[in-house]
Amino acid sequence: MSSASTSQPIVPKTDYIEEKEDGEAYRKIDADICREMLPNLPKEKGWIAEQLVQYKGVWLTPTFALKAAVQLQHHFNLFQTTGSSTSAARGSLPMYFLATLPKSGTTWLRALMFATLNRSLYDATSPHHPLLTTGPHDCFPCLEMDNMLGNHDHSRPVTSLDHDHHDDRDGGDAMIDSYVPPTSTAQLFATHLPYSLFPKSVTTSSSTCGVSKFVYVCRNPKDVFISLWKFGSKVKAVNTGLTPFSLEEAFDLFCRGVCPYGPYWDHVLGFWKASLEMPGQVLFLKYEDLRKEPFANVKRLAEFLGQPFSEEEESKGVVQQIIKLCSFENLSSLEINKTSRTQQYFVKANILVENSDFFRKGQVGDWKNFFTDDMAKRMDQIIDERFSGSGLTFVNP
Ligand code: A3P
Repeated sequence: MSSASTSQPIVPKTDYIEEKEDGEAYRKIDADICREMLPNLPKEKGWIAEQLVQYKGVWLTPTFALKAAVQLQHHFNLFQTTGSSTSAARGSLPMYFLATLPKSGTTWLRALMFATLNRSLYDATSPHHPLLTTGPHDCFPCLEMDNMLGNHDHSRPVTSLDHDHHDDRDGGDAMIDSYVPPTSTAQLFATHLPYSLFPKSVTTSSSTCGVSKFVYVCRNPKDVFISLWKFGSKVKAVNTGLTPFSLEEAFDLFCRGVCPYGPYWDHVLGFWKASLEMPGQVLFLKYEDLRKEPFANVKRLAEFLGQPFSEEEESKGVVQQIIKLCSFENLSSLEINKTSRTQQYFVKANILVENSDFFRKGQVGDWKNFFTDDMAKRMDQIIDERFSGSGLTFVNP
């Protein structure tokens, strides 16, 4: 029997916060952030929202990322210190985080993780696979954007496939609900927060929060920059009416470390070092390697998450089926990803983003179509300065 078929389904379980207990505490944190913290933080122009603020060295959107970073400390420290029965029980489920800087391949890895971990439930070749009708961003929640940490309506729990903003979809709740399996053995989150902002209670596996694992996807900085500039230009104009950055202005900000969840190099190095120190807890993948060798890397992913592909699965071509299902060509051609904007966390945050905005070219080396020689030189110099001695190298075609 295949290893996947013996395991319980891995589905997002997102209502683990004791909302009623903690609601008051979270509201107080929100108020403190607005009143005391925000006015004193360094500020720069935002790429997507109007502003970025610098908190503990990290550039964050004040509306949700900053709050999430602060709440994260509070939430997991609460877990550790109170050990309340409900929280402890919920916290004993392993937490798997997909961690990325925006534009590094989050959408792709969301799909790959969801399809890999749920393969015993959903055959990748099935015409009813959830990914065919649910955008990858709606398969499991984003820690900081999905109102996971208390900044939501405390009277109702949040479940990741429990959409309430999809008027433009056929099928509605009944269709989505039918995807939600009855049990779960792990909590699956995406996050853009850097490793440094996670409390020890999450990054130390022996904690009362149970086992947590991070899958980190790194993409070369030149392609991340172009992808972010393109994405930000569109989304910022639509949402704020502000003029997007010129290429030069954006490049200068990026090189100074000012980008969402940046500096880029701190984010990457934080997870890189953690992956060297704790390879069982942090898997460091590169977008370019996934592009070149998807088979080997998807197998690594499954092994890391404790669901290695069995020989039987491999001989049946299950790995290739998952790769095909999650390919840029397939996902970007689906109706749900061409026409819908049902990423519920964006809807809740009142940010207009189309699913199609997450699928641009999906290529390695598109930066060459935009960079001048001087830009390439400046970025190479920064890479040398920041990453020399780390052992991390970038694939720059
Ligand atoms: P480009 O803008 O270079 O095309 P994120 O998901 O982190 O926001 O990253 C978006 C980038 O990943 C975009 O890059 C997008 O095209 C690419 N992408 C999205 N889905 C992909 C997939 N299935 N395979 C490869 N790349 C993908």
